This record gives sequence, C-alpha cells and structure tokens, in this order.
Amino acid sequence: MKHPQLFIISLVALGLSGCDQSSKGFSLPPGDIQRGEQLFVDLQCLSCHTLEGYERPEGAQELSVGLGGQVKSLKTYAELVTSVINPSHQLAKGYDTSTIQVEGTSVMPVYNDVITVSELVDLVAFLESKYELEPYDQTTYNIHH
Ligand code: HEC
Repeated sequence: MKHPQLFIISLVALGLSGCDQSSKGFSLPPGDIQRGEQLFVDLQCLSCHTLEGYERPEGAQELSVGLGGQVKSLKTYAELVTSVINPSHQLAKGYDTSTIQVEGTSVMPVYNDVITVSELVDLVAFLESKYELEPYDQTTYNIHH
C-alpha cells in the first residue's frame, strides 16, 4: 500500500463513526447534580462503591469499585447511563471478575424499577461531574531525563 498512514486514519475514522452510531439521536434532558448527589447517598451506592469525599455507610460490603476521580479517558455520558441501567453490558475493568459478576451478570443491582427516569438523569449528571481527565504528563515521555 502506498499510503499506510492514510489507511490507518481512515480505519480510525470508520471506528469512531461506528461508535457514534450506537448512541445517535440519544438525548436526555439536563440533570440536577445536587439531587443526583442526594440520590447517590440515599440509594446507598456507597455500600459497594468508593468516591472521594464521601464516607461509606456502616456495614458496607468488602467490594469497593471506585467511581469518579482522575481518569485517562473520560466515560461518555452514554457509557455512564449504560453502566447504571444495564450494569452487565460492560463490566468495569481492572477488577477481579469473581468479585464483580456472577455468571456474566454484574452484582450491581438493577435500579430500573426503583428510580424514575428523572432520578436517573440527575444521578448520571452527578456521576459525570465527578470524573476529571488526567492532565497530560509530558515527563513520562521524556527519555533523556
Ligand atoms: C451491591 C453492590 C453495588 C451497588 C449497591 C451499586 N453498585 Fe455500581 N457497580 C457494582 C459493581 C460490582 C460494578 C462493577 C461491575 C460493573 O461494571 O457492573 C459496578 C459498576 C458501576 C459503574 C461503572 C464503573 C466503571 O468504572 O465502569 C457505575 C457508574 C456504577 N456502578 C454506579 C452505581 C450507582 C450510581 C449506584 C447506586 C444507584 C451503584 N452503582 C450501586 C456494584 C454495585
């Protein structure tokens, strides 16, 4: 092939547009971060999760899946919504699978019959506000140092 770079670029472009396709036309109204925070506490999400600045309730499970904080790539809004309404769709990475799933099903409860859509929107707005993109660290790539 004459222009391998071009080939790679077009593959990446195809891949990206492919991802967008799955959430095309998906739009939920803006959420209320404060109400989302209240729900996060009331629904006891912290019994299995940790989030900086929030205390875990008494009798919390041994399981602790970290939420929020600095990440290398931000979760998209669609990914966050999916992780709440369809937790088994894609299991969180970096955990011992035996602790987070049973036969492919996430141990995270499904709240779809517990919370309203408005509450879901608020909850996700709150979660989204807790993630921050890790600043690019130039020194990591400085081989002369
Ligand atoms: C009984 C334990 C449990 C409770 C309660 C729970 N979760 Fe989870 N949650 C998990 C586990 C285990 C995972 C990792 C497996 C997965 O991705 O489903 C997870 C994953 C997630 C993820 C994706 C994290 C990632 O990095 O991919 C989000 C977001 C999340 N939970 C939000 C919530 C919210 C919001 C609540 C409260 C409404 C909640 N969870 C309550 C166990 C729980």
